[in-house]
Amino acid sequence: MKRLQITIIAMAVLIAGCKQSATPALQPAKYGAKITEVGGSKQVAQVGSGLAQPVVVQVNGADGNPVVGALVAFHGEGVQFNPAQALTDASGQVTAAVQLGFNAGDYQIVAETPKSGGSSDSLTLHETALGYEQTLGQAVNAKYCIRCHDNESTPERVSNFDNLSPAPHLFTDGATLNRVSDADLTSLIAHGGAALGKSPQMPAYSSTLKPAEIKAVVAYMRTVADPPYQAPGVKYGK
Ligand code: HEC
Repeated sequence: MKRLQITIIAMAVLIAGCKQSATPALQPAKYGAKITEVGGSKQVAQVGSGLAQPVVVQVNGADGNPVVGALVAFHGEGVQFNPAQALTDASGQVTAAVQLGFNAGDYQIVAETPKSGGSSDSLTLHETALGYEQTLGQAVNAKYCIRCHDNESTPERVSNFDNLSPAPHLFTDGATLNRVSDADLTSLIAHGGAALGKSPQMPAYSSTLKPAEIKAVVAYMRTVADPPYQAPGVKYGK
């Protein structure tokens, strides 16, 4: 009797398990050769929130023309996609809404399309999630720094970048800023360029910003760095 009960429970669990994984796998109608980005990479959003723009990719054939009906699947650790897989539309494209996970930092999104013969072509896009501290840093940047450290103007803000020499670096410039320690960035922001033998056009912020705000803007710079910043001594697994 006991045995029968266990068997029934085991079967119920099995059936429930099967039901959950019963998302029907899409079958490609056609195969492409190459997957490319149309748009949607390098966006910045709060942790756990959706990106403002969808990710759009295109599958082309060996002749370079878009392929209709090719399968595209999206993967990314901690990232949710809607849809996670789809067939390319009449222009050879797939559009997916993206929701980032709950850790601040760089998120990799892989879009993959199977090719005939069993191999596949894939593409990696990067997105950035800001945690609480980085969001504060983003606000500090928007209020004080961006007019000089961003070369693009917007309707609300005229960039001062082109008037500065030497030109400041964009906060996304990981190739340059990743090599500077937190301590050096902090002291440059606090004491200004002149105090450190750099351009006096870089103002000193120690009387304007609290130490926590300077720390936050450094955290923001680390998070938007491209290539991504890796803290010294921290090894990331593959
Ligand atoms: C009035 C223009 C101006 C503003 C506003 C400004 N900076 Fe700068 N900043 C500069 C210039 C010019 C340099 C380049 C100094 C040099 O290389 O000699 C610089 C350099 C820096 C550097 C060193 C790396 C680099 O770009 O060369 C950091 C870090 C920095 N600024 C952070 C900030 C932060 C954070 C803010 C806002 C809190 C800020 N800056 C606001 C003009 C500005």
